[in-house]
Amino acid sequence: MKICFNHLLLAFSYALDCVEQDCCYVSHFHGKRIAYFSMKMGEYFQLNQEAMNHLIACAILHDNGMSEYYKYGEHLDVDEFLKAHCIAGERNMSYLPFYHHIEDVVLYHHERVDGKGPFHKVEKDIPLYSQIIHLADWVDIHYSFKKMDPIGYQKMLNDIKELEGIHFSQEVIQAFISTITFEVIEQDLYALNYELKNNEYLTYREIPHSQVLSICQLFAHIIDSKSPHTKSHSIGVATLASQMAIYYHNDQDKVLQLFIAGVLHDVGKLVIDRDILEKPAQLTDREYTYMQTHAYYTYRILTDMDLGDIVHWASFHHEKLDGSGYPFGKVGDELDFNDRLLACCDIYQALTEDRPYKKALSHQESIKIMREMAHQNKIDSQIVEDINRIF
Ligand SMILES: [Fe+2]
Ligand SMILES: [Fe+2]
Ligand SMILES: [Fe+2]
Ligand SMILES: [Fe+2]
Repeated sequence: MKICFNHLLLAFSYALDCVEQDCCYVSHFHGKRIAYFSMKMGEYFQLNQEAMNHLIACAILHDNGMSEYYKYGEHLDVDEFLKAHCIAGERNMSYLPFYHHIEDVVLYHHERVDGKGPFHKVEKDIPLYSQIIHLADWVDIHYSFKKMDPIGYQKMLNDIKELEGIHFSQEVIQAFISTITFEVIEQDLYALNYELKNNEYLTYREIPHSQVLSICQLFAHIIDSKSPHTKSHSIGVATLASQMAIYYHNDQDKVLQLFIAGVLHDVGKLVIDRDILEKPAQLTDREYTYMQTHAYYTYRILTDMDLGDIVHWASFHHEKLDGSGYPFGKVGDELDFNDRLLACCDIYQALTEDRPYKKALSHQESIKIMREMAHQNKIDSQIVEDINRIF
């Protein structure tokens, strides 16, 4: 498959921002702004194209460990929380095929050069990319750029200079001052988005299947980490979908694409509040309507990723043949075979796993429910029978 890795990440960054907003205050487009500031500072250090790609990837993913917030959010103090999200984020980064180039960058993205950060590293032991991301992140958390005027901008630079030798190194501060000019700060979000998507550093590459799989594992881990009750749901749906694709004699590429659709089908859940995802009881009508928007967000995020057929296979997993599904109310004619397949795999996986409000059902019980749904013209009866045959 030919993909631009950072394009995928940029689309995914919207979901990551929502996760972060769920646990602490960050600006809209936080991930993208950090990526943009880092890219500009990377130019100061004259990074080559490959290095720039790595830096941008780390910048977008710097807080990916936040989706595990539920594990430690309530009972850790701020310092412990900082450390925990760095460790979780670093572990997820190790799925990336180019991890050996970016080892420890996410782990140390909150380190201070005076050694008073979460892991007490000093300037010489903190990777340059971590230092760049740390400054970009600090600035975005502490200042609002919307109403910033030249006087406010100058004050911000003075504040940063005050932290030389404490939080940041002289060199990284110089990189910031040289590249993040008032004109850069002034840019609106559309301009920033455009520059990130159309810069000279983005590269489309033919990526081997094994590498696509590890990238998928990274995404799946972040998605499933948001809720302990669905911790293996995405991988479960992906595995079912690919096994079924093999049963239907699809070629290797199609099998992989269906696996990716399975991994990403609930990416929109990252946008949904944790309290709703984990509610240990049936949702109210209003909460249920809100929860349903996850399928629409999956559609939006995947459309941005430019993933071809994978977009509809993944996003239509709650559509029903009789038009009663969501988010678009598609009917049978509008749902191709793989749209229907993903829908069935999602239902089978959900029925056979524990949820906050119910225990896992057996294969027989699940098939019984699915046959009833097929009888009501909700899902494809032939696929239900094939699932029964295979699992
Ligand atoms: Fe962070
Ligand atoms: Fe951040
Ligand atoms: Fe879903
Ligand atoms: Fe699902």
